Amino acid sequence: MRVLGIETSCDETGVALYDTDAGLLADALYSQIALHAEFGGVVPELASRDHTRKLLPLVDQVLADAQLTKQDLDAIAYTAGPGLVGALMVGACTAHGMARALDIPVLGVHHMEGHLLAPMLEETAPAFPFVALLVSGGHTQLVDVRGLGDYRLLGESVDDAAGEAFDKVAKMLELPYPGGPQVAALAEQGRSERFRFPRPMTDRPGLDFSFSGLKTHTLTALRQLREQDALDSQARADVARAFEDAVVDTLIIKCRRALKESGRERLVVAGGVSANRRLRETLDVALTKLGARAFYPRGRFCTDNGAMIAYAGAQRLIAGQRSDAIQPRPRWPLA
Ligand code: KG4
Ligand code: ZN
Repeated sequence: MRVLGIETSCDETGVALYDTDAGLLADALYSQIALHAEFGGVVPELASRDHTRKLLPLVDQVLADAQLTKQDLDAIAYTAGPGLVGALMVGACTAHGMARALDIPVLGVHHMEGHLLAPMLEETAPAFPFVALLVSGGHTQLVDVRGLGDYRLLGESVDDAAGEAFDKVAKMLELPYPGGPQVAALAEQGRSERFRFPRPMTDRPGLDFSFSGLKTHTLTALRQLREQDALDSQARADVARAFEDAVVDTLIIKCRRALKESGRERLVVAGGVSANRRLRETLDVALTKLGARAFYPRGRFCTDNGAMIAYAGAQRLIAGQRSDAIQPRPRWPLA
């Protein structure tokens, strides 16, 4: 089955073609980062408009890359939620319109299920069951994954998502949007011994997270340095490092706990923050000690993309699932 995947939930237009026999045939991505950068964050109305401009050209591009035509498609999968409603609507209407014209099945997919299954596109794909750490701009969740669609929420952020905290700290450091990669790059120059930030909610049992206090802690540290006229470039890097260390440590403590409590030996880490180099390196060391192993998507499939939606959709389409109506779901719990 050849499935066209469409992702338009936020600020990336992603399209891909996945073949259940041959694997990923093509994928294309258009990022709206430059469009939103001057506003310091995603402007929903501009996002929807840009998806309408870019989506069909990207569909043509992946078909051309795979040397196929629309008639070669067997089904279409699109992100139905969660996300920005106008942006989701662009993908949903395009997918349903194309499917209707081609008389093929169509299915709305959960964006976080796409992230969760993204490592399945890699050569060494994790087998079920596993624990998944989903860390993106909108979500920070630990999920016990027993099989496709069989998810149990183990814990989640009670306030900001990890990616959101990275983005807000980037703003405090006057780094451009989206801040995660920028804070990570600045932290490379920082020294970990200068400041120690708290590891929120790690001193009590449970698998929930909280990142808003850490954000405030960072703000206070920066303010104090500014007042002391000591906020030079090294100090900024040291603060970025202290923040990143605290997020990474916190995530790892909870991952270890989730693996121990669930008895699982495999951990999937996906979503934008899973691109973070320090998180990956530190986590790999920590898991080896536990006799467990982490699985990640390749770099460009950590953040939003069409390939993960094509893959997740294909699994559900094979199982016979279909969507009858255009029904974007801006809020949609995974489990
Ligand atoms: O999964 P994603 O593309 O979109 C959502 O579904 O939210 O994740 C985007 C988030 C942003 O908050 C971005 O700052 C963060 O992932 N991010 C990173 C890194 N790359 C992206 N955070 C930390 N380190 C990175 N290298
Ligand atoms: Zn995402």
